[in-house]
Amino acid sequence: MKRVAILISGGGSNMLRLVESMTGDHPARAVLVASNDAGAAGLDHAARLGVPTAAIDHRPFGRDRAAFEAELLKPILAAQPDILCLAGFMRVLTPDFVNRFAGRMLNIHPSLLPKYPGLHTHARALAANDHEAGCTVHEVTPVLDDGPVLGQARVPILPEDTADSLAARVLTLEHQLYPAVLRRFAAGERAPILL
Ligand code: GRF
Repeated sequence: MKRVAILISGGGSNMLRLVESMTGDHPARAVLVASNDAGAAGLDHAARLGVPTAAIDHRPFGRDRAAFEAELLKPILAAQPDILCLAGFMRVLTPDFVNRFAGRMLNIHPSLLPKYPGLHTHARALAANDHEAGCTVHEVTPVLDDGPVLGQARVPILPEDTADSLAARVLTLEHQLYPAVLRRFAAGERAPILL
């Protein structure tokens, strides 16, 4: 049984779907939900589902990312995860942290990577007059939003779309894609899922 730790920063809707998916004959179970914000609503949801939680506020550490990550690592290493899932985690992680989990850390990004790494992905797709948008689950490497793609899901961009309406439609797909990718990843499969 693979042990999965999930990092969040806010509502944790993706985390919830992942936790709820890891039941029955699923080859993994959630062992920790950690956040860089003690007020993250996702922490309450995780606790209600019986998943241990941890919160390390990044703000006292200022620009010292290594010091923040040294604290964040404590509950993560204590949980002894096989897989780390970033799910709406909004802090950039240092190469040292990422390399600790090389080949076993996933992230979901709300664009069709390699298009639009970074922030404001939907606004950028609209500004570019793209005809489709979507989300990508990828292995996390030291380069932001750049690792091997493990899954992608596409939606058409509609004429009346705003960044918010597009984000909402893509989020629904994220909730399908991420659990599907995690289940296969935990079973040792790496072939990308394309929805
Ligand atoms: C989602 O758009 C996800 O793609 C991005 O963070 C947003 C919020 O995710 N990484 P969640 O509701 O906190 O899971």
